[in-house]
Amino acid sequence: MVARPRSLHSVSVLRQALLEVKGKILWHELLAPYTSLNVGGDADVLVFPVDVDDAIRVVRGARKNHIPLVVLGGTNVLIRDKGIRGIVMQLKHLTMIQENPGQVVYAQAGVRLPKLMQFALSRKLSGMEWAAGIPGTVGGGVVMNAGTRLGQMQDVLQAVDFVTIHGIRKRLETSLLSFLYRKTILPQGIVVGAWMQLRSAGKDAIQSATKNYLQYRKGTQPLTLPNAGSVFKNPSGDSAGRLIEEAGLKGLRIGDAEVSSKHANFIVNRGEATAEQVLLLVRKVRDRVARKFGIRLKLEWKVLGER
Ligand code: EPU
Repeated sequence: MVARPRSLHSVSVLRQALLEVKGKILWHELLAPYTSLNVGGDADVLVFPVDVDDAIRVVRGARKNHIPLVVLGGTNVLIRDKGIRGIVMQLKHLTMIQENPGQVVYAQAGVRLPKLMQFALSRKLSGMEWAAGIPGTVGGGVVMNAGTRLGQMQDVLQAVDFVTIHGIRKRLETSLLSFLYRKTILPQGIVVGAWMQLRSAGKDAIQSATKNYLQYRKGTQPLTLPNAGSVFKNPSGDSAGRLIEEAGLKGLRIGDAEVSSKHANFIVNRGEATAEQVLLLVRKVRDRVARKFGIRLKLEWKVLGER
């Protein structure tokens, strides 16, 4: 067990910040179970706002009391063993989803991408097929500009439902945002929803594209073991998975953290992996690839928490 650093914020200040919040509040909650890799220490406080207004209360309370606030999606992140000080917020109750005129779907940040895909299929709307097999949320997908080789969030995003760090809700038009590979440049604040421009299509076409792609992913990625998606971004014109495999690193293990033998750009948790083991493995892989190919791989995951 890793010693938990003393929080910079007293419980009374944290309580004060969350006084008006209606959602569930958990103190010193271990975050590992809230992540797909199942790794990471605790949060001073973990809060689940019941709706967008409640999320705004959290944002304003944190701001007013000078407390750091992290929104945890949970699928493309590694949380360090010492956990996260301040307030961690999960938007899993922001699950509203609706079809607007003109083949636009609005989904709140906590909607899981598979759920959004199901919804789109039920309305015969195409455009989200690229997301097949991505377990993350709409909010995470927007922030990360989630994508696969079939497409990415940027391709369908019409606007972002956004709350600034001052707690002001705004609609950010996509035309005013910039997108990078696995990163959307956003102002400081949180994503609470997104409008996606889809297009009408036949159910069979949508279903078969999704099915083929899911099959491809199931065949090439270790989707049945705890993982946090691709570890590294692909270097331009190459593939991180290929480089790691050719460096002979498939199956390399530190503690319970293992470079997947199915896809080398995945690290899987074989049971009780710690963040320290995972990070050591990440460094080892990066060093070996750099030595063999002279290419420095860049992490795709977000790493959160105390060093
Ligand atoms: N490859 C190897 N060895 C491996 C893995 C892959 O040689 O162990 C080779 C494959 O043979 C192929 C090439 O690398 O020629 C590309 O592999 P793959 O098709 O699996 O795609 P990827 O580039 O590794 C990207 C995304 C994935 C997404 C897949 C499929 C990145 C970093 N990753 O992987 O996204 O699922 O395409 O569309 O862009 C994620 O971002 O979390 C994620 C899972």
